[in-house]
Amino acid sequence: MSQLFIIFLVLPLAHTTFIDFRSYKDYKVYKIVGNNEDLTKIIEFLNGITELPFYNVRNNRAEVMIAPELDEVFSNAVNLFNLEKTILVDDYSKIMAEEKSANRQDSKFSWTAYYDVDGIYDYLKNMSTVYSNWTELVVGGQSYEGRQLLGLKINTPTETDKIKSIIFIESGIHAREWITPATTTYFINQLLTSSDPAITTLRDRFEWQIFPTVNPDGYHYTHTRDRMWRKTRSKSSLFCHGADPNRNWDYNWGQYGISTNPCNYQTYAGSQPFSEIETRTFSEYISNLDNILAYIAFHSDAQMLLVPYSDSVEHTGNYDDLIKIGNTSLEYGEKVNGEKYDGPATAAEILYKASGGSMDWVRNQLATPIVYTYELRGTYFHWPPSRIFEQGDEVTQMMVGLFTEACNLGYC
Ligand SMILES: *[C@@H]1O[C@H](CO)[C@@H](O)[C@H](O)[C@H]1NC(C)=O
Ligand SMILES: *[C@@H]1O[C@H](CO)[C@@H](O)[C@H](O)[C@H]1NC(C)=O
Ligand SMILES: *[C@@H]1O[C@H](CO)[C@@H](O)[C@H](O)[C@H]1NC(C)=O
Ligand SMILES: [Zn+2]
Repeated sequence: MSQLFIIFLVLPLAHTTFIDFRSYKDYKVYKIVGNNEDLTKIIEFLNGITELPFYNVRNNRAEVMIAPELDEVFSNAVNLFNLEKTILVDDYSKIMAEEKSANRQDSKFSWTAYYDVDGIYDYLKNMSTVYSNWTELVVGGQSYEGRQLLGLKINTPTETDKIKSIIFIESGIHAREWITPATTTYFINQLLTSSDPAITTLRDRFEWQIFPTVNPDGYHYTHTRDRMWRKTRSKSSLFCHGADPNRNWDYNWGQYGISTNPCNYQTYAGSQPFSEIETRTFSEYISNLDNILAYIAFHSDAQMLLVPYSDSVEHTGNYDDLIKIGNTSLEYGEKVNGEKYDGPATAAEILYKASGGSMDWVRNQLATPIVYTYELRGTYFHWPPSRIFEQGDEVTQMMVGLFTEACNLGYC
């Protein structure tokens, strides 16, 4: 069968628009094992037919989401390279159904269901009222569709006038990584309500600035149109939308792990550094803060801890300290559910090289001493809503461990 014929057969797919919620009925996730080069060729070939909603190639293994219409073409391509495929997920729509059926109380925010942007922002607003002497709403920037990048500042009063260092938390920059806003709001709740001295000490020692969902348009889109959406929602070309906001920051922009195709579902870096209003306004906000001790970004679901820089295997000035601090953080986390994370290490060492990420820009531009990216757990961006608390407690302990060790090493 000629390639032309194959392309002719499936071309209409590429222009399908999704007016309703994209169902992902019978979409499968496959694993293929082979060398990275062959796997990349297969992915590029498929991406040339229709943009794949999800794919990932590393360590001679690919994971890719395949629409039912593309299944035969995919099988042919895999056979052509003499590779084997295994089904990891039989029907992604079933996973989505589990998320939807979660026990949600609309009148009260909880951690047994996933909430859209408005729900999360209502929670932050409520906390700023209930804990008005400790907290304050902060606006970190704007989105393409006119939403705010809303965060909560937690700064409990101290006896001295000493200005506290800031711990800055960014989450949800990738829209489909739903566990990250859920975990950061869980962590906010822990800071505000826990009576565990380890947690209250952590809260009181620093000023916290926590932004649960810094790509609010994309996140809203995952709730209303397309669960696999990852990017922003700006207009990137005649038919396509969005750029990957974690490839769009002005540090080594466009170098590694990016796509230059505006229609690419995952890693289109944008038309230029800070082309996206979200990254542009957020970076300005961060630049105007003095005294940031730590910048922590949450992603899912590679289950690892990353240190800067993400596009180089070269080690930063305080790399040894970051590894030590990160180790302690992971040890504290492991005590909660027995879960081991990979790392700490650079993304170039254990994930893949990627340029234009927020963590690298912050480290390079602001020389922030403590900078990490946590990749939380899950399968293809799904985590059961009934178990959000597991990751919430894990991350809370990881934060306790992180700052216990950082202070031991003289950073506080
Ligand atoms: C605000 O938070 C308080 C304390 O958690 C809760 O009791 C109340 O129901 C919340 N109000 C709204 C409108 O969510
Ligand atoms: C802050 O307000 C809360 C809730 O009203 C109260 O419980 C707490 O004691 C107050 N803390 C301080 C330091 O004033
Ligand atoms: C970090 O932990 C790993 C394994 O747990 C260990 O091999 C390594 O020596 C530790 N590194 C530091 C700097 O503590
Ligand atoms: Zn991510």
